[in-house]
Amino acid sequence: MALYSEKVMDHFRNPRNLGVIEDADGVGEVGNAKCGDIMKMYLKIEDDTIQDVKFETFGCASAIASSSMATELIKGQPVSKAMELTNQAVAEALDGLPDYKLHCSVLAEQAIKSALEDYESKKEKKNNA
Ligand code: FES
Repeated sequence: MALYSEKVMDHFRNPRNLGVIEDADGVGEVGNAKCGDIMKMYLKIEDDTIQDVKFETFGCASAIASSSMATELIKGQPVSKAMELTNQAVAEALDGLPDYKLHCSVLAEQAIKSALEDYESKKEKKNNA
């Protein structure tokens, strides 16, 4: 069996939603100390819905494929749904990742959660202003 599924290869070669959102409503950055990979997520949120999402990943092929797939899974979804995204869902959508590469999908889950938390804390600040 090939090491990576077709889907992983596809998302690695043609990452969806790669880039930056300048006026993002939420930004999250996470890293894995062991492999040194870094993932950054940008969210544009309107009416509690993820209108747009972009990512930058400095990392391995699985990390790039995981971030790409994760953005696809949450785009157009309500914030509450995006909050529930798990690394298992990302790995499954990619038709699986090798065991020792599962942490790459965890990074995608954490990056999205961190961007959503940033959005929530900004929203709170605005409401209290
Ligand atoms: Fe660390 Fe892939 S090897 S994110």
